[in-house]
Amino acid sequence: MPGIKGPSDYSQEPPRHPSLQINSKVPFNAEPPRSALASSYVTPVDLFYKRNHGPIPVVDDIERYCVDICGLIGTPKKLYMRDVRMLPKYNVTATLQCAGNRRTAMSKTRKVRGVGWDVSAIGNAVWGGAKLADLLELIGIPKLTCSTQSGGKHVEFVSIDKCKEENGGPYKASIPLSQATNPEADVLLAYEMNGEFVSNMRKCLVIMLKPLNRDHGYPLRVIVPGVIGARSVKWLDSINIIAEECQGFFMQKDYKMFPPSVDWDNINWSTRRPQMDFPVQSVICSLEDVQSIKPGKVTISGYAVSGGGRGIERVDVSIDGGKTWLEASRSQKTGVPYIADHVSSDKWAWVLFEVTVDIPYSTEIVAKAVDSAANVQPENVQDIWNLRGILNTSWHRVQVRVGHSNM
Ligand code: MTE
Repeated sequence: MPGIKGPSDYSQEPPRHPSLQINSKVPFNAEPPRSALASSYVTPVDLFYKRNHGPIPVVDDIERYCVDICGLIGTPKKLYMRDVRMLPKYNVTATLQCAGNRRTAMSKTRKVRGVGWDVSAIGNAVWGGAKLADLLELIGIPKLTCSTQSGGKHVEFVSIDKCKEENGGPYKASIPLSQATNPEADVLLAYEMNGEFVSNMRKCLVIMLKPLNRDHGYPLRVIVPGVIGARSVKWLDSINIIAEECQGFFMQKDYKMFPPSVDWDNINWSTRRPQMDFPVQSVICSLEDVQSIKPGKVTISGYAVSGGGRGIERVDVSIDGGKTWLEASRSQKTGVPYIADHVSSDKWAWVLFEVTVDIPYSTEIVAKAVDSAANVQPENVQDIWNLRGILNTSWHRVQVRVGHSNM
């Protein structure tokens, strides 16, 4: 593809923030410390988790960079960055969560395969770009289409990076055409991520977003809100309209949820569907897994999020290992009270929670969230154990050791 290339080695990786905890150096997979995560509603780009399956692509000529649009459409088209920028621009605040978030904890019950992640393979960002639904309309596929006349039912996104799981081929994934053509689903072709507030001519503060950086998909990536991060393909090379869902490794041989009885000697990948929406999740970020504290008031804070655009109805915190519960306060934007599923809330974004409690003795602190469909997190990790270690959404538990000496 002109203008961009996918290197086959790791000699051209971008610089990264020194505080990231590196879970795999090549390909680069890293997450911020949990204490940094819930301190801001919008996760700074430097601290946003980085999940890669190959070397980071290099753009050498942005003018020549384009995305091929092909498959079950009349005539294939080329989409240049100037064409994407001509489409109406949207800023969508959405949380991206890797399906492997909290995998390390799942592995403690019984070993799972995959990169280990603590609780920070998640971040919330403002993504700027064009809606995929607008692009598809431009090429003749109307809004809210489930199937095209030529049998197109899925939209496949193919990248330029080289992944060993694809035998050196690119990362790819697909979503249903009905989701891609639904403007309410907010699927973006994103070219910007976060930025800063600046004052405009009327002296109002407006957010000026910045171009994506290389780690997060420069120059163009897909953002599929409410769905596991694996479907938000970075470094877009082509968009294909196809009849069946993408047959790539990461759709068919990974990121599927199996029951605890399935192991590597009896797995049949074709029996399960690729995971799309993520379930309700919550995590305490203000305390490590085992933390020493002084007796007295402690503020317990963290994030809660659910897939499919469902809001967070409640976050319960227990300071006695789950026997009794207190309700935490929830927030998103400063000065706007959070109401689940209300127009004033960011529907695709996480909710930060906080509760201040008195902790006089050593104990187990637990958090669990309830989403707006009344889905609740499972109590035990054993019940949702799966061999790939995805979607560990069990109650989040931390141990506090209360000491009376100087700590
Ligand atoms: N896209 C490409 N091209 N290559 C990848 O390795 N990783 C996926 C997704 N898109 C990936 C990709 C996974 S598993 C996740 S969780 C998200 O990107 C992570 O996005 P981030 O690195 O911007 O946080």
